[in-house]
Amino acid sequence: MGCGCRNFIDNSMTENLIIFNARLVTPTGTSARCGAQEMNHLHILDNATVEITKGIITYVGASRGETRDGYYNHFWHYNARGKCLLPGFVDSHTHPVFDGERADEFNRRLRGESYLSIMQSGGGIAATVRATRNATYYTLRARAETLLKQMSLMGVTTVEAKSGYGLDRDTELMLLRVIQGLQRDEHRRVDIVPTYLGAHAIPAEYAGRPDDYIDFITGEMLPHIARHRLAAFCDVFCEAGVFSVEQSRRLLTAARRYGFGLKLHADELASLGGAELAAELHAVSADHLLHVSEAGIRQLRAAGVVATLLPLTAFILKAPYAPGRQLIDSGLAVALATDLNPGSAFSGSVPLTFALACIYMGLTIEEAITAFTLNGAAALNRADTIGSIETGKQGDMVLLNTDNYHQLTYYVGMNSVIATIKGGVIHPLNG
Ligand code: NIG
Ligand code: FE
Repeated sequence: MGCGCRNFIDNSMTENLIIFNARLVTPTGTSARCGAQEMNHLHILDNATVEITKGIITYVGASRGETRDGYYNHFWHYNARGKCLLPGFVDSHTHPVFDGERADEFNRRLRGESYLSIMQSGGGIAATVRATRNATYYTLRARAETLLKQMSLMGVTTVEAKSGYGLDRDTELMLLRVIQGLQRDEHRRVDIVPTYLGAHAIPAEYAGRPDDYIDFITGEMLPHIARHRLAAFCDVFCEAGVFSVEQSRRLLTAARRYGFGLKLHADELASLGGAELAAELHAVSADHLLHVSEAGIRQLRAAGVVATLLPLTAFILKAPYAPGRQLIDSGLAVALATDLNPGSAFSGSVPLTFALACIYMGLTIEEAITAFTLNGAAALNRADTIGSIETGKQGDMVLLNTDNYHQLTYYVGMNSVIATIKGGVIHPLNG
């Protein structure tokens, strides 16, 4: 680590920073990168200097002769010693606000039961909903904060966080207020983008009446959440046995009228037409896509929808991986995210996501880096402010312990991060 680092973390929390002698590795642009050529293109520059003023990047380029660590002219100078400096990772699909554990279900799956059959027997999302409805704001917040801290240690600087384990009015609003509270913490290491996922499951009190539940969401929840600006996106679990394509369409069409960006859990467990619906509604992203159809791929491409792939879920459910290679070769913008949640993927592991995407989905490491940075940002409508190291963007970066970025996949499941930089403030891994 550069000398003086600990002191400046402890003493000043400055947002003015100059990192020098870095191996810069970044995609470029302010929108999603589509297809193999764009996703493989990374800007790589040795002996690079990056200057961050009040949290915003103000210079990226060749060295300007900086050689010493320390505090000069209102900027901390930090020597990266030739290590890789990447944009902070953007995890654009997570469910981190919940209470309870489902280790019993994990064991049932190990013995051969399926995710869907456990769900149909009253477990799954419903089990977490029962636990979450009994939890307090502070319990939920503390748990989510612990998860976010762990993600920050793996280089994540922005996370999308979904509600969806309350389902009733008050618990869903509490989950969104937990997310809002975490975002308002001035010492946060991770920005949090809130998504309302009331349509995650049909709650017990609406059993057999999914259309009534959609009416409740569109009539009561969406106007309230929009008025209080509690969510940027609205998402739906469009799946056999959960919400049909028609119900999802009705919900998302209403959400669009209230100004929400649209997301879908699409074609995760079966090929239902979720991708086609995402394209029809010009959703910002369609997520999962394990069973996406050929027509769905074409329509997503034509509509410019980001395809968000979640390899940890396929890995943990022993399900087939989404066709990442095919999606990229078809010209789509692919994003990678963890899907961290208490059921199908209790993991926020960035390094394992990288490894699975490259080993089993056929992405190159360069594509995976673009997918977890700029395209993740695009999946949150934020590619103009985060996702690459360029002048004018937020000073959100990650410093690896290596000059070889291939280590991100070659060291399988091991953390290569030595520091995250959030808004120009360095957080060393041991700090
Ligand atoms: O993305 N598919 C729906 N939601 C989660 C699973 C949630 C859970 O099992 O608690 C997912 O896989
Ligand atoms: Fe999910």
